[in-house]
Order: sequence, then C-alpha cells, then structure tokens
Amino acid sequence: METSLLGLVMGGFTSATIGAAARLGVADALADGPATGGELAKKVDADPDALEALMKAVTALGVFARDEEGRYTNSPLSEQLRSDHPESIRHLASLLCGLYTQAASGGLTQAVRTGTSVMPHAFGVSLYEYLDKDPETARIFDLAMQDWSRPIGVLAARHISFEGVRTVVDVGGGNGALLKAILSAHPHLRGICVDREDTCTRAEAELRASGDEDLVRRLRYRPSDILREVPAGGDLYIIKNVLHDWSSESCVRILGNIRKAMSAGAGPDRKPRLLVVDPLVEHDSGAAFRSVIKMVVGETNTRERSEADLRRETAEAGLDIVSIMPAPADLSVVECVVAAGA
Ligand SMILES: C[S@@+](CC[C@H](N)C(=O)[O-])C[C@H]1O[C@@H](n2cnc3c(N)ncnc32)[C@H](O)[C@@H]1O
Repeated sequence: METSLLGLVMGGFTSATIGAAARLGVADALADGPATGGELAKKVDADPDALEALMKAVTALGVFARDEEGRYTNSPLSEQLRSDHPESIRHLASLLCGLYTQAASGGLTQAVRTGTSVMPHAFGVSLYEYLDKDPETARIFDLAMQDWSRPIGVLAARHISFEGVRTVVDVGGGNGALLKAILSAHPHLRGICVDREDTCTRAEAELRASGDEDLVRRLRYRPSDILREVPAGGDLYIIKNVLHDWSSESCVRILGNIRKAMSAGAGPDRKPRLLVVDPLVEHDSGAAFRSVIKMVVGETNTRERSEADLRRETAEAGLDIVSIMPAPADLSVVECVVAAGA
C-alpha cells in the first residue's frame, strides 16, 4: 500500500487483519505445507469465504503468500507468526492488533481531551482490571510479554553478572520467560517470579505441565501486588518493562517496595542489587510512538522516563544508581543498590 494519508488511516485495518490471522493460528496451520482457502478454513475453524477474503488481504501485504494454484503458504514475514518460531510474535500481534488497537480506537480522542488514560474511556477499567475479568485475553497478554522478552532473556543470561547471586527475583516477571532463560543458563541459581495472582497461577500450571523438573524445582511463582509489597530473599532483583506502565508516583511506590525487600534481606555478606530494565528516552528510538502506547494502556500520567526522572524516582525510593547502560530493543539497564542510610 502506498504511503499517503489515506494509506496511514487504513493502518487500523491492516493491523486488525494481521491480528485476526495471528489469533486464528493461520501460520501454524500452514506449517506443514500449502493449503487452499477451504482447507485452511477447516483447520482454523473459520468461514471459508470470510477466511479467503482475509487471506487475500494479508497476502497483499506480503504477510502470507499465494501460489499459482491459489494455495496459501507462509512467507518470511508470516513465519514469525508461527507459535514455534524462535522469534515468534504471534501473541504480541494478537494483543497489539487486538486489545490495544481496540482500546486506542475506542478511547484515544477522549483521553487526549482529558489527559487521562485511554483504557477507562474505552472499557471503563484499567488494563489490569480488564485482564482480571477476561482470562483468555490475560493468557494472550502473558504470552505476548513472553514474545517480547524472549530475545532479551538470552542476552540477559549471557551478559548479567551473577557472581555471588543465588536467588534472582523478577518483579512483575509475567509468566517467568526471563527467569527461565536465566535459570536454564545458570544451574546454580534459583528464581522467584512475582506477579499478579492469575498470571502466577497460569504460569505455574504451565511450568508443571512442561515436565521440566529442574525448573519446577528452582523457579517459584509468588503472587503479590507490587504496589503494596515485594518479597524479600533475593540477591538480585530485576524489574523489566514494568515501570513504563506507571505514573511517577506509582513507580516510587514500586521501587520503594523493592528497596524495602532488599534492605530486609541485606547482611554483612549480602548486598542485594536491583536492575531496572526499561526504555529511557535517551536510548529509545521509538519514544514518540511508545508515549501513545503508554497513554493507551498505562496509568494516567504515565510518560516516557529520562535518566533524570529515574534518578529522582530511585532517590525518593532510597536507592542509589550505580550504572546506566543502553541495551538492545531500545532498553536501558540501570543498576541500583540500597542508598546509605535508607
Ligand atoms: C508489561 S508486563 C512486563 C512483563 C515482563 N516483566 C516482561 O518484561 O515481559 C507488566 C507485568 O507487570 C505485572 N503487574 C501489573 N500490575 C501488577 C501488580 N499490581 N502487582 C504485580 N504485578 C503486576 C503484569 O501482570 C505484567 O506481567
């Protein structure tokens, strides 16, 4: 589609079309080879004519391909919508092209008028209240975060120093994708994944069902509202892609709760560290667009953070920043320790 104002305006349909193909599992259904529209409709449980229309649209975008006999196949782009692709974004596509786009189209105008979050205008509740009431979307949300985390998990396992660390606590760790990557690469470590109750329940059941006895033994899920409490017991705390959902006031509360947990577990031979992994405007090439996503799913008054913002928030929470390193995927890794006297 050519780049014109109308083309950009049609972007919502482009997104919805790809999101529907992702949600239906079309790329998985084509993993074993080409299929006609009719065959595909049976595999993904869809109406044949409607699916043919959807497939023509996504194929025109290059996301799938169509051979001379009219059979559909995966293309290099649609391969990434397969659930088993090492860099799969199937669930991320379902979420971004589904709930997030629905929220934006239902509430962005009103949210810009009022300066408040989009979700309450679109659905009457915040993002996490919405997920509490819709387990299927919540399941997709957790898997979408896993899609997002997968490449970072491998890098984190390789580049973070785990010297002197026995227990890693991932605060708002979702279904534990980051900890699984870290624990798999470092057999001496144990992990505690802290998240909302329903996320922990789903993740724990999935881990047990996976039959990975080693990870079942070393990875624990701990439900907790991090705005109220973060469990003690970690040598290394990580909070990745969480603060960007929250206003400055809530961030100070979350960081303060982590600091309390770090202080409670500190001793002469134990000085817990915290890694904040989040975008900071200085190293975030997508900051302008991301600020709209924050308006859509973040709390009211959630904005992109600069280094200066995070320095003020960590200081208010009783933490000292030791280093700030730019990382892949527009992230920064900020290492913190408990401030003297905190
Ligand atoms: C944007 S996701 C990031 C997940 C994961 N850290 C990652 O990088 O993929 C934010 C996470 O914070 C969790 N969360 C949100 N509010 C929370 C709360 N009040 N207490 C505990 N966890 C919360 C969500 O369930 C979600 O897993």
